[in-house]
Amino acid sequence: MREVPKTQYEARLRSEELRSLINYHNRLYYELNQPEISDEVYDDLMNELRAIEAAYPELITPDSPTQRVGGAPLPTFEVVEHRLPLLSLSNCFSEEELRAWHRRAAERLGSDAFALVTEPKIDGLAIALVYERGRFVQGATRGDGYHGENVTENLRTIPTIPKQLRGSYPERFEVRGEVYMPRAGFEALNEAIGEENLRREKEGKRPLPLYANPRNAAAGAVRQKDPSVTASRPLAMFTYQLGWCEGSHPESHYEILGWLREMGFNVNPEARLHAGLDDVLPRVAWWGQERERLEYDIDGVVIKIDDTRAWDRLGAVGREPRWATAYKFPPQQRTTKLLDIQVNVGRTGVLTPFAVLEPVVVGGARVSLATLHNEGDIRRKDIRIGDTVIVQRAGEVIPQVVGPVVQLRTGEEREFTMPERCPVCGTPVSRDPDQAAVYCPNASCPAQQIRLIEHFGSRAAMDIEGLGEKMAIQLYQQGLVRNVADLYDLTVEQLRPLWKSGTKTAEALVRNIQASKGRPLPNVLFALGIRHVGFETARLLAEHIGSLAGLLDVKADELQQVEGIGPVVAASIESWVQRPENRAIVERLVAAGVNPTFEKPAGGAGPLEGLTIVVTGRLERMSRGEAEDAIRARGGKVGSSVTTATDFLVVGADAGSKLAKAEKLGTRQLTEEEFLALLERGPAALSDA
Ligand code: IVH
Repeated sequence: MREVPKTQYEARLRSEELRSLINYHNRLYYELNQPEISDEVYDDLMNELRAIEAAYPELITPDSPTQRVGGAPLPTFEVVEHRLPLLSLSNCFSEEELRAWHRRAAERLGSDAFALVTEPKIDGLAIALVYERGRFVQGATRGDGYHGENVTENLRTIPTIPKQLRGSYPERFEVRGEVYMPRAGFEALNEAIGEENLRREKEGKRPLPLYANPRNAAAGAVRQKDPSVTASRPLAMFTYQLGWCEGSHPESHYEILGWLREMGFNVNPEARLHAGLDDVLPRVAWWGQERERLEYDIDGVVIKIDDTRAWDRLGAVGREPRWATAYKFPPQQRTTKLLDIQVNVGRTGVLTPFAVLEPVVVGGARVSLATLHNEGDIRRKDIRIGDTVIVQRAGEVIPQVVGPVVQLRTGEEREFTMPERCPVCGTPVSRDPDQAAVYCPNASCPAQQIRLIEHFGSRAAMDIEGLGEKMAIQLYQQGLVRNVADLYDLTVEQLRPLWKSGTKTAEALVRNIQASKGRPLPNVLFALGIRHVGFETARLLAEHIGSLAGLLDVKADELQQVEGIGPVVAASIESWVQRPENRAIVERLVAAGVNPTFEKPAGGAGPLEGLTIVVTGRLERMSRGEAEDAIRARGGKVGSSVTTATDFLVVGADAGSKLAKAEKLGTRQLTEEEFLALLERGPAALSDA
C-alpha cells in the first residue's frame, strides 16, 4: 500500500482519485457482475483511502465508499419532480403513543368521532404512478419526497401494475403504493446468488453479496438499468393511496381504495374500515401476532383517517401528515459485530457452527448467539469472523445470520474453517461424503453423551420431566451418568447432595425416570439417538423388530426391505447395533425393565384411507418428509397445497401461507400432538376434539 501523503493538498487529490476508482469498481462488481480487479487490489484501494481519511478526517465526504452501509452505488435515472410531495409517516411504538396521535387529531378536528382505516405497512419501496386517459405514462421512486427517479420502463414489467385501466377513471391522476418482493421469491433469489457464489469461489472470484431482506431486493430490482432484469425478479405492487387527481373522487379513503380496485389496481385485501380507535387497537395487536403468515414482509400497520376532507384541514408537521400514522413492530433485523464462530457438538456428533455476536435486541429479544447452519452456508453467504453482520429473528424462530455488510469490512476479517479435531474430546473429525456434514466419530465424546442424555429425556423421546440440558450436564460431570442406561440405576441417595432442597427434587427425578420405563417402543428407539433415526423411522423400526431386545438382531439388508427405510438409514442402524458399547446399553435397559413391545396395526386398508392431508411448518418430532411418508404408509394422500379437498392441515412452527389459506377455507387444523394421535389411531382419535 502507498504511503499516506505528507500534505493535505496531496491527500485531497489522492482521496478523490481513490473514491472515483472504488466507485467505478464497485459498479463493475455489484451491478454488472464483471469485476476487473482482484479482491486484493480492491482491498488495497479501500485500505489506502481509509488510511488517508484516518490521517485527514476533514477530507471524509458523506458519499465516500468508506462511509457507505449496504447498497451499491446507484445507476442514474432521469429525475422527475413530484407534483405533490410524497410524505412519510410519523411512528408510534405503543398503544399510548397511538392514543396520543388520535387525541391530537381529535383536538384539531373538534371531535373524536371519525372513522379510521388500517392497512398493513408493506416493507418495500414507495412509488408514484401517473395515468393519463387510463394509460400508465410515468412511474417514479419516492426519492427525497420531492424528486424521484424515473423508473417507468422497469415498473412496466411488474404484473400487478396495470398498464391500461378498466371502467371509468379520472382524466389524469397519480396513485401511490409500495413495490415489494414476496418472501418466497426473495429466498429463491438469494439461494441462486448463494449457488453462484460457490461457483465463483472455485474460480477464485469475489462472492456477490446477498440481499439482506426483501425490501433491499425489491429496491435493487426496480433500479436496474436493464428492464429485462427487473422483469426476471418476482415483484408486485400494492396501491395504497390516491395522489393528485384531475377529476372527482370519493371522499372516503376506504371508498377510494375500492374505486382504485375497480380500475384494476392491486389494493391490499387486508385494509379495514373501523368506526373508531377502540376498534383499531385489536386489529393492530392481531397484526403483531399474525404478520408472519403473510407472503410478504410488513413492518407495521398504517392508520389513516377515512375522511379525506379532514386531511386538508389537518395538514402536516414537517413531512409527516397529521391524518395518518404508522404503528411500528419491533425490527426483525439488526446489524451487529460477529465476534467469533464457535462449534457445537450435537448428540449424533455432528459439528454445527454458531455465531457469537455483540448482543443486540432483535424482534424484541436480546440476541448474542445465532445459528449458522453449516460450513457450506457460511461459504455461500461469505460470512467472516469480525464482519458486521445482519441478524434476523422472526417470531419464535432461532436467530439467524443473514449475511455480512461487505462495505464495512476493514480487511481484518478472518475466514472460518471447521476444526480438524472435535473441540470437546480432540478426536480427529470425519466428513460425511453425501451430506457434507462434519462429525466427531467418538461415540463416548462427552459432548455427545451429554446431548444424548438430554435428548433421551426430551418429550418426544422418554419424556422425563426434570431431565433437561442443565441436569444432563450435572449428572455427567458428577460421574453419575455416563450413558443413558445409567439413568435407571440412579438412587435418591446419590442425587440428594446435588441440590440444596435435596430430597424432594431427587425423589421426583428418580420417580420420573422410573415412570419412563413404560414408554412405547418407537419412543424408546427414537430416544437412543441413532444417526438418521428420527421419530418416524423409529416407528417403522419398531414395527419391524417388535421389541427392544429385537434391536440386537437387526441386519442392514433385512432393514432395507422395510418400506420407508433406505440403505443409508439401514447401514446407520446396523453399525450402531454392532458397537459393543451400544449393545451393552440396550441389554442394560432391557434388564432395568425398559422393554416395551409394539403391536403391528391390523392389515387391510390404512386408517387414513380417503383422507387428504397437508403438512406445513417445522415439526418437532419428525421432518416434513417423514410426516408425509407416515401419511402415505397409512393409506392417506399428501396434498401440496391447501384446497377445498384438504381434510387436515398439520401445522408446525413458522407456518406460512398454507395456514392463512386454511383459515380462509375453514380447513381443520391439527397440532403435531393431534397429528401423532391421528397416525396412531386414525380419525377416531380426533372425534372427541
Ligand atoms: S400511506 C402520507 N400506506 O411507509 C403517507 N404508506 O413510513 C403516505 N407504506 O413512504 C403513505 N405501506 O412507502 C401508506 N399502506 C400504506 C403503506 C405505506 C407501506 C410506506 C410508504 C411510506 C412509508 C412511510
